[in-house]
Amino acid sequence: MNKNKKEVSKIETKKASMDEWPEPIVRVQSLAESNLSSLPDRYIKPESQRPITTEEAPAATNIPIIDLEGLFLEQGLSDDVIMSRISEACREWGFFQVVNHGVRPELMDAARESWREFFHLPVNAKETYSNSPRTYEGYGSRLGVEKGAILDWSDYYYLHLLPPHLKDFNKWPSFPPTIREVIDEYGKELVKLSGRIMRVLSSNLGLKEDKFQDAFGGENIGACLRVNYYPKCPRPELALGLSSHSDPGGMTILLPDDQVFGLQVRKDDTWITVKPHPHAFIVNIGDQIQILSNSTYKSVEHRVIVNSEKERVSLAFFYNPKSDIPIQPLQELVSTHNPPLYPPMTFDQYRLFIRTQGPQGKSHVESHISPR
Ligand code: OGA
Ligand code: NI
Repeated sequence: MNKNKKEVSKIETKKASMDEWPEPIVRVQSLAESNLSSLPDRYIKPESQRPITTEEAPAATNIPIIDLEGLFLEQGLSDDVIMSRISEACREWGFFQVVNHGVRPELMDAARESWREFFHLPVNAKETYSNSPRTYEGYGSRLGVEKGAILDWSDYYYLHLLPPHLKDFNKWPSFPPTIREVIDEYGKELVKLSGRIMRVLSSNLGLKEDKFQDAFGGENIGACLRVNYYPKCPRPELALGLSSHSDPGGMTILLPDDQVFGLQVRKDDTWITVKPHPHAFIVNIGDQIQILSNSTYKSVEHRVIVNSEKERVSLAFFYNPKSDIPIQPLQELVSTHNPPLYPPMTFDQYRLFIRTQGPQGKSHVESHISPR
């Protein structure tokens, strides 16, 4: 058995015991509100993973900011300059911010602020939505089921927007009263925006505009939302809000907090702190698009730092392939000189890595590289 097969079978065994978390769940918000004088051991990262403090941090370089104004016209994709900036961002950074993306700023604010209100409910009011590692849907506080793992300083809420049979309002919060309506509209807008960006990504590789979308299962793609709540942390230099990871899905569209920094993106050997542009979205390539593009586009590691002054709320929207079709490098992009780097795997199988082991850098997509 090769390494990859062994990993998969280990995970399959673990899947059988994934109805419950391995340890009682502690809400990070409760810890933060209990006026701790020190950080509990479970949240202290090993030295090599700790964030460098701002005094030591190298001068900030931002990820590319791309204005999409006028790109999506009735007659097709219109602007070569914008197209090539996106192309470069996907190859060099795996990350970019977009402005003039077509989503109303009021809707963006309403979505983020509705979730902030939800997270401000007393902890026990949120426990009705408490999640399990089988589906992850609902209110959660850890990623991965490794007993004794060092945990991240955040709580979250995870829900499905697509496919329609997985979208279940009963699993969405009912407070504040308009939250379901707002998320529903927000989700639809982001599905539309994602479809447009997917066309750019295909076209930029010399493929038909629909190529990526078709490879994702056409109409039957998946979309979900993970809302992250990062409470204030008493020792931010020892902890992470979200450990280094690459996103397992296709593409992510992040709405960051408008007031508080936190997202860091790996660029070579340094971590770049992203400065969100007002009402921009942060777009990043996930592992499934790296795989389809045979590694031309990069699914880049990122993580979240926390601080002791302010909480942070972010909405990560994931656009994913239909979960049961095999994803592999597109035929048009491989040749004898450029062999496929990844064997076929469904997204259902693939995401078990992060769902069992938690966020672990890029080890998932790397361990999945075909033996050459
Ligand atoms: C994620 C993520 C970044 C952030 O949810 O996958 O990377 O800024 N979030 O919260
Ligand atoms: Ni992420």
